[in-house]
Amino acid sequence: MSTTVFFFLLLLSTSAAATTTTLASDVSALKAIKSAINPTTIPSYSCLASWNFTSDPCSNPHLTHFLCGLSCSGNRVTQLTFDRAGYSGTLSSFVSKLTQLLTIDLSDNKFSGPIPTALFFLPNLQTLILRSNSFSGTIPPAISSLTSIQTLDVSHNSLTGSLPDTLSSLTLTRLDLSFNKLTGPIPKLPKNLLELAIKSNLLSGYLSKTSFNELTQLEVVELSDNSLTGTIPGWFFLQPSIQQVNLANNGFTGIEILKPTDSNLIAVDIGFNKIAGYLSANFSAYPMLSSLSLRYNKLHGPIPSEYSQKATLRRLFLDGNYLSGLPPKEFFSGKSSVSGSLGDNCLRSCPTSSQLCLKSQKPSSICQRAYGGKVKPKS
Ligand SMILES: *[C@@H]1O[C@H](CO)[C@@H](O)[C@H](O)[C@H]1NC(C)=O
Ligand SMILES: *[C@@H]1O[C@H](CO)[C@@H](O)[C@H](O)[C@H]1NC(C)=O
Repeated sequence: MSTTVFFFLLLLSTSAAATTTTLASDVSALKAIKSAINPTTIPSYSCLASWNFTSDPCSNPHLTHFLCGLSCSGNRVTQLTFDRAGYSGTLSSFVSKLTQLLTIDLSDNKFSGPIPTALFFLPNLQTLILRSNSFSGTIPPAISSLTSIQTLDVSHNSLTGSLPDTLSSLTLTRLDLSFNKLTGPIPKLPKNLLELAIKSNLLSGYLSKTSFNELTQLEVVELSDNSLTGTIPGWFFLQPSIQQVNLANNGFTGIEILKPTDSNLIAVDIGFNKIAGYLSANFSAYPMLSSLSLRYNKLHGPIPSEYSQKATLRRLFLDGNYLSGLPPKEFFSGKSSVSGSLGDNCLRSCPTSSQLCLKSQKPSSICQRAYGGKVKPKS
């Protein structure tokens, strides 16, 4: 190729890029989105301050205008990724005109009002992150119209109401609705989920098989700090891909633990519930289990010695129950590398030379009452 031809082609390509004219309806949607934001909350250094419509949003290069906050492919806007500038206002429903959007990330700002329902009709949207704003209102059933969605994170907002049944038809792999004010039961969940996080809400009801049916890829479940009740069912820990479970700070009253044939379960936190009954040895049959907390429940009876012989176990918190008898001596043999606590129980002769026993046991009066006067915890 001759130098002249090369420069001609270069000129042609740069001028083509410079003249990209954003689709008119995308430009008007961007204008509407900016004007729904309180101008006094758009600092001069921010992305939105550089949105000056005297130039074309998608044309390159961006030297002074449209420096950040959006990306384009050709003449269409494909991403809205705002900086954490503290923008306050509402999200304009004109966002739905940006039909080629793949990603919306407005996290760590001060957007308020409802999530516009029109947004749920974006056919190509894969990632919707509205984390740490002040969005309110309910999650409408129309959310099922997000046919390409994979990641949905609306954690740390003020959403209310119950979760719609239509959630299950979504192609989501990651759902985070933690730190809202959502109520009601857990509906049937999307079957491609890898990560489910709805901690710190007001969810109630049981863990039902219908909700978790067919979730063969589910690895992480974070449902702590809700008002879930009933017995934690045995199938829950037998889910085929499950690795981490946090159900702490709920109102569960019982637990069923079945032995797995194979399992990748690594960490289980069920502390601060109301689980009564004996501590089953069956958790020790989970081959990878490394961290287990059942602290501050109402467990009675002995600590099965299987837990003290389990090589994978690194952290064990059983404090704050009514566990009785002698703790398994293997915990204190010097070979065990378990940390955690067995304190605040009704154990006999827990050696305070071990950090597991640093927190003292319950007063014998409380233990005698818990066992109807049949146990003398302190020898
Ligand atoms: C937009 O840019 C033009 C020149 O590029 C400038 O004259 C104008 O003041 C800018 N408007 C705002 C609102 O910054
Ligand atoms: C332990 O698991 C077995 C087999 O899965 C089950 O039959 C048994 O009831 C469980 N025992 C306890 C105490 O949870």
